[in-house]
Amino acid sequence: MTISRSRGLFITLEGIDGAGKSSQFDAMVAELRSLGRSVVATREPGGTPLGESLRELLLTQDMSTSTEALLVFAARQEHVLKVIEPALLRGHDVVCDRFTDATLAYQGAGKGIPRDRLEALAYWVHPGLTPDLTVLLDVPAATAAQRLRAQSRQADRFEREPEEFFTRVREQYLELAREQADRWCVIDASRELGEVRQDILQNLKKRL
Ligand code: TMP
Repeated sequence: MTISRSRGLFITLEGIDGAGKSSQFDAMVAELRSLGRSVVATREPGGTPLGESLRELLLTQDMSTSTEALLVFAARQEHVLKVIEPALLRGHDVVCDRFTDATLAYQGAGKGIPRDRLEALAYWVHPGLTPDLTVLLDVPAATAAQRLRAQSRQADRFEREPEEFFTRVREQYLELAREQADRWCVIDASRELGEVRQDILQNLKKRL
């Protein structure tokens, strides 16, 4: 493997379902590439063939909360070893749609797994790997629910959770952002798409 002299940036995008992550993710990747940066765009759960199979199970199959958390970390282990770390070492930026903060928010605050248990798994799976920048698309759970209802496709297993679940997930994200303010960039994503995009891109440029 060619080791680059400078490691790439690890950038993650987070937010509750219905925050509008997908289109903003594409815009972030396009902006970084237009600035001449080499970008690996990926997602969690997923990002490897095995990870994508685990994603399918996570989104469709009934399972206990601990099985869910362990599958999320199993997928992440593959992703970190086979995609994220090699790319960063070669000097590419990695832009990842969700990472471990999503587990602290969804399986932790959302589903009640103690944070220290999830942090122990995170330490096992990716010791020393923390995003350099995490963009949080923040919206109230009610706004996100309205957006999800307007979609034509069927809701997946997570999207079917009640509004209170997403309120807890959102609160946890905001708490994580307060704890590590240097790493996080909180964007008000209740605004119109174009405005949100401008805000993200301006913040991205400032942090590069
Ligand atoms: P996505 O729709 O943003 O691609 O994410 C799929 C779902 O997976 C989303 O509802 C959040 C959930 N998820 C977790 O519950 N824990 C995690 O660690 C990750 C990465 C995603």
